[in-house]
Amino acid sequence: MNIFFYATYSNHKEFLNTLKKKFRNDKIYTINDNIDLRKIDVAMVWNLPTTIFKRLINLKAIFSIGAGVDHILKLPNINNLPIVRVKDPTMRIRMYNHVLSQILIFQLKLKIYDQAQRKKTWLNERYTPLNNEITIGIIGLGYIGNFVALNIKKLGYKVIGLKRQKPTKISSFSIYYNKSINTFIKKSDVIVSILPDTKNTNNFIDAKFLKKMKKNSLLINIGRGSAVNEIDLINHIRKNNNFFASLDVFNKEPLIKKHKFWNYNNITITPHVAAITDHESSINYLYKKFLIFKKNKKIKSDVNFKLGY
Ligand code: OXD
Repeated sequence: MNIFFYATYSNHKEFLNTLKKKFRNDKIYTINDNIDLRKIDVAMVWNLPTTIFKRLINLKAIFSIGAGVDHILKLPNINNLPIVRVKDPTMRIRMYNHVLSQILIFQLKLKIYDQAQRKKTWLNERYTPLNNEITIGIIGLGYIGNFVALNIKKLGYKVIGLKRQKPTKISSFSIYYNKSINTFIKKSDVIVSILPDTKNTNNFIDAKFLKKMKKNSLLINIGRGSAVNEIDLINHIRKNNNFFASLDVFNKEPLIKKHKFWNYNNITITPHVAAITDHESSINYLYKKFLIFKKNKKIKSDVNFKLGY
């Protein structure tokens, strides 16, 4: 089979080398190879430009080399193709580590002590709650979100989740849905958004949502930047000294130098690194899926086009 690889990763060459080693029985091409793109069967991509996609006219499946598929769903007439996304166990462990680190920084007031240190100020002791006094609300309970929720719960935090619809499966933590969203927001000391980028999640966390959050609380966004209305968040932070945000994803990445987020002490910015793509492990996953596709000549799409993720 002929595979086409395209990625806007800074380390795409290393990724390609590992990919070629793993897929040694198949041909992997890039845009730099002199190949007729009509001969390509499968594309493995991150941010494939539409101009190239349109030339892959005999494509039979498209694989996202990351967890998100929003970059693929932007391509024209994509609903004719099965889409495979990486479900890498190391990615969800990293996501969990990142979320836990941000919860602890908030819980132990480390951001406040860090700012005081910069001013050479010795602060008085402040109350730091124990795990069982803190409610963590998780929005986006898919492959990653559910893992984060379950593991945070194991540490003794109170965990609740938010879903669009009444869950069909029993969960080991309370799930809020539909109209109970206000209770979910009001109960949470920390809200973690792991929402994908879809028309339903766009600006989901807006001024109205933020106003319902506890005055002393933390918003963590490790899903997609589009879920948070950035202007509303800045206005909210301006008015609420005890409100914190930890953002790993943004509407436009990289975050431009002029962006107001950089100016606020209560905002932690990380450059879309909550879970780096582990080459070895994600390529193993891609390979496993590819072998299924090669054997059966078809593969079930990981994407529900109606929901948009
Ligand atoms: C993502 C990724 O989807 O980094 O954000 O894989």
